[in-house]
Amino acid sequence: MRILGIESTCDDTCAAVVEDGRRILSNRTASSAAEQNLYGGVVPEIASRRHIENISAVARSALAEAGCTAADVDAVAVSYAPGLIGAVLVGVNFAKALAFAAGKPLVPVHHLRGHVAALYLTHPGLQPPFLCLVASGGHSHIVQVTDYTHFTVLGRTVDGAAGEAFDKVARTLGLGYPGGPAVGKAARGGNPRAYPLPTPHVEGKYNVSFSGLKTAVLNAVNKANMTGEGVNVADMAASFQWRITEILAQKLLDAARDTGAARICIAGGVAANSQLRDRLAAGARALGAQLYLPEQALCGDNAAMVAAQGYYEYRAHAADSAYLHNWALNGLPTQDIEAG
Ligand code: KG4
Ligand code: ZN
Repeated sequence: MRILGIESTCDDTCAAVVEDGRRILSNRTASSAAEQNLYGGVVPEIASRRHIENISAVARSALAEAGCTAADVDAVAVSYAPGLIGAVLVGVNFAKALAFAAGKPLVPVHHLRGHVAALYLTHPGLQPPFLCLVASGGHSHIVQVTDYTHFTVLGRTVDGAAGEAFDKVARTLGLGYPGGPAVGKAARGGNPRAYPLPTPHVEGKYNVSFSGLKTAVLNAVNKANMTGEGVNVADMAASFQWRITEILAQKLLDAARDTGAARICIAGGVAANSQLRDRLAAGARALGAQLYLPEQALCGDNAAMVAAQGYYEYRAHAADSAYLHNWALNGLPTQDIEAG
């Protein structure tokens, strides 16, 4: 079964064709990240305008690369939430129109479920159940993936997301957007112990919190500037990266140990972080669990992950024609990965 995936929840306009949820036939993206970098973060209005300009061409080229037309795909899958509403609307309405015109089912995909499905594209043999940290620019969840369409959230951030913390710290250090890769690069050669940064206290065994950590970075930078000493950017980037990856890894490994998880996974933009990947490799080995990492190129937003999850959502609703032909997307659950 071939599914055309559409993704436009943030600053990437993406389309892809995936076969049976596992094999990428094409995966195209037009990103406005370079333009957003001029403003130090995503300007929603700019994201929406670029989606409108790019979506038709991106979808056309994804279909062409896969060697098919809209008539040849079995369904259209689209990320419907969470995301910037103006950005989401572009992809959702494009997908609706295409599905309706081609007489194909329309499969709504929760964006974070899509991130999890990037793992299926990287590891053909991986099947639920597994434990997964989903860490992106807007969310940081520890979820039990009990099957392809059933998720239980064990822990989440009580304030900002991990990716957003990377972005804020990058901005504080003048490193540009997106912050994650910039901090990772700046941290090379820095001393992770140069600036002692706190692990913020948080209620809930598997919850995380980053606001105290972001404030600690800001205060240390302000202090260094006031004394005229100036902050050592490499050392601060390394110290922050070490602390935040330690927090994320520790919580995930605690949850894995307590639930007896045999398989541990990570997904979302932050899953591209090398330090997090290395730390988890060591932690999983110590627990005797198997670690599955998504391919670096599939960690950030892309439409292949949406098409992959779309395949499993389609299968779960195969007997429900009203659901699959609900082009108005009436009655959709919105922000929740469990209900999604
Ligand atoms: O999943 P994603 O591409 O989009 C959202 O759904 O939000 O995640 C984007 C986030 C950004 O905050 C970005 O700074 C972060 O992922 N990110 C990283 C890395 N690459 C991207 N964070 C840490 N290390 C990275 N290498
Ligand atoms: Zn994302």
